[in-house]
Amino acid sequence: MSREEQRFIADHPKSAALYQRAQQSLLGGVPMNWMKKWAGKFPVFVAEGRGAHFTCVDGREYIDLCLGDTGAMTGHSPAPTVEAVARQSQRGMTLMLPTEDAVWVGEELARRFGLPFWQFALTATDANRFAIRIAREITGRPKILVFNYCYHGTVDESFITLAPPETRAEAEARAANKPRAPRESGPRRGNIGPAVNPAETTRVVEFNDLDTLETALANGDVACILAEPVLTNVGIVHPDPGFWARASDLARQYQSLLILDETHTICSGPGGYARAHDLHPDMFVIGKPIAGGVPAAAYGSTESVARRIALRIQLEDCDTGGIGGTLAGNAVSLAAMRATLEHVLTPAAFEHMIPLAERFTEGVAAAIAEARLPWHVTRLGCRAEYQFGARPPRNGGEAAAAMDFELERFMHLYALNRGILLTPFHNMALMSPATTAADIEAHAHVFGAALAELTS
Ligand SMILES: Cc1ncc(COP(=O)(O)O)c(C=O)c1O
Repeated sequence: MSREEQRFIADHPKSAALYQRAQQSLLGGVPMNWMKKWAGKFPVFVAEGRGAHFTCVDGREYIDLCLGDTGAMTGHSPAPTVEAVARQSQRGMTLMLPTEDAVWVGEELARRFGLPFWQFALTATDANRFAIRIAREITGRPKILVFNYCYHGTVDESFITLAPPETRAEAEARAANKPRAPRESGPRRGNIGPAVNPAETTRVVEFNDLDTLETALANGDVACILAEPVLTNVGIVHPDPGFWARASDLARQYQSLLILDETHTICSGPGGYARAHDLHPDMFVIGKPIAGGVPAAAYGSTESVARRIALRIQLEDCDTGGIGGTLAGNAVSLAAMRATLEHVLTPAAFEHMIPLAERFTEGVAAAIAEARLPWHVTRLGCRAEYQFGARPPRNGGEAAAAMDFELERFMHLYALNRGILLTPFHNMALMSPATTAADIEAHAHVFGAALAELTS
């Protein structure tokens, strides 16, 4: 690691100088706190990004497999989006009035995702927040339910985790057929200044655990389940076969709404995971790549939810209800969404991206097998992820337990020093319409070399 750190510093003198300068004006020397998490001693400062590549201020070129942690799944600055943004920018950027693009986008979202009514926000975080508020308002219930180690953006209610899995005493008690005590929950590690203990607002259960899900819903106080259909933020954790069918039934039975957050799982295909697997959420959230990297997000509702909302929101109060944002639904975001949906995130694009992710997965799996490491690699559509455990985890708790921060940083820095960017969180690689087979081969080569060094 120290050899790699020295190499990184030597290769990036201009980024180092900018980082030094930034100490005087940016908190921690970065525009956003988590940018400190990049594996080098400082972040690489970007000169230009295009398609699946970018160059840094030191003139080095990188294959970008992070792709803005999905915000740039379209590739950087896709031409149709850039043109639409340029065109709309000449004609007014934020008007507080709708443009025709809004109607086009609403119709397209309804066609793609199957929910008839849409609203906009600037981030997926906000879209989730608004969906949760609506769920609480129309059900009259106080709590939400999330899965352990979920991530839905900076939504206060979601920063909660379960205490670690059962102790030996608990396991023995279960072996003696005593009922399992419910696991404690509390603020997630690192939760900054929580307004209240999220245990007051939120019930949290492990993914793929239908029994505890039912127990939690049976309390009758859960307004909604907020979930990714496949966990993607603690590595990839797939649902067991039949999990979502039964979980959806339980949500209906206990009258909790199901909100699917497909901000990342849009990697499954043009209609997201729900369309591909015939799931029918009450509300649907999407953000990040939907406008090709321009800030934009959307949330959709079924007809029944839309009717219930209409009954609750009074005209006089509709601007101060806690849902909105002056710049939400602005003309530039909507023009960008329209162009991205029409020309970039197309079925043809997914036909290019998904086989590349398959190829990525095969290359990584072969290198893991050759190095005889107890790791594995998982894929969801055009996203792939290697994890430091022999078997795919079944839930967030297992996935979190398999994480190894030091090893992760080493793998990321090793790749970065050889021209490949992975996300700074876990080990995700994403394909864009501009990613090529050569990019994937390059990663396989570097990954294999890292494992050879680790195991030599
Ligand atoms: C599933 C999911 N939902 C929502 C968000 C929040 O997106 P944003 O940070 O753009 O608000 C994220 C961010 O990683 C996410 O992974």
